[in-house]
Amino acid sequence: MSAEKLPQLHPLNSLDEWEDDVLRRYPDPESIAMEKDTEAYRNYDNPERDTVKEFYRLNHTYQTYDFVQQKRADFLSFGRKEMTVWDAFEFLNQLVDDSDPDTDLSQFQHLLQTSEAIRNDGHPDWMVLTGLMHDMGKVLCLFGEPQWAVVGDTFPVGCAYSDKIVYPEFFENNPDFNNKKYNTRYGIYTPNCGLRNVDMSWGHDEYIYSMLKDYLPEPALYMLRYHSFYAWHREGAYDHLLDDHDREMLKWVKLFNPYDLYSKNPTPPNWNELRPYYENLVNKYLPKTLRF
Ligand SMILES: [Fe+2]
Ligand SMILES: [Fe+2]
Repeated sequence: MSAEKLPQLHPLNSLDEWEDDVLRRYPDPESIAMEKDTEAYRNYDNPERDTVKEFYRLNHTYQTYDFVQQKRADFLSFGRKEMTVWDAFEFLNQLVDDSDPDTDLSQFQHLLQTSEAIRNDGHPDWMVLTGLMHDMGKVLCLFGEPQWAVVGDTFPVGCAYSDKIVYPEFFENNPDFNNKKYNTRYGIYTPNCGLRNVDMSWGHDEYIYSMLKDYLPEPALYMLRYHSFYAWHREGAYDHLLDDHDREMLKWVKLFNPYDLYSKNPTPPNWNELRPYYENLVNKYLPKTLRF
């Protein structure tokens, strides 16, 4: 299915274009010091920017409160497929098809580089596993979901949108923007109700969190569930919805984010050498098969 044929569903040439854009917004402080100045990283005259902009237009227009409820009801019953973790990685890797093989790593390589960077820094093994699994939810694309319902920065639905979300002007196209039930500061929520009571825009974060919520410790679940919630963990928005537990967990989400953003490396790790370690790790925490 080509991007030209279905621009409404797939404005990006590959899912990586969203992540490349996140990297432009939040450049790696170390690489800036080494090679490029901040201006070069924030170069918005880039052909990818138009597709990314169109992607956000669709995301912000169609991620309504009702849309999120429909997707939750549909996908969180996990009735589509049952796979071992290893079969799931092979399934996920089909996503590399329409991206440029010279510059883009497969999804599995991104996951492995994230988990290896976490492991090299001596973090607990459950965090390594979190790195390995955090983007597994992108299989949503392979179930026919549009890109804007799989990736992109996530944000609460059911209350006013923060202007700290990228391209906030596109929310004016969202029907919830003019709905009195949803367009006030708290909307359907109560002050400091805690993020666990807040519905986020639908995408790969909530899906993988729900899939793994019985198997990993609480900080890992926050990393999975909120890793694309940049308005919170990078911009500090939505404090009025947080409770003390969220504030406590934020440090874990922040600890995880640089491994996701800055671990990309053109040299792939040696999977044959690493395999036994990861097989043990998966067996330690996860069941034989996962339901998608
Ligand atoms: Fe992700
Ligand atoms: Fe990622």
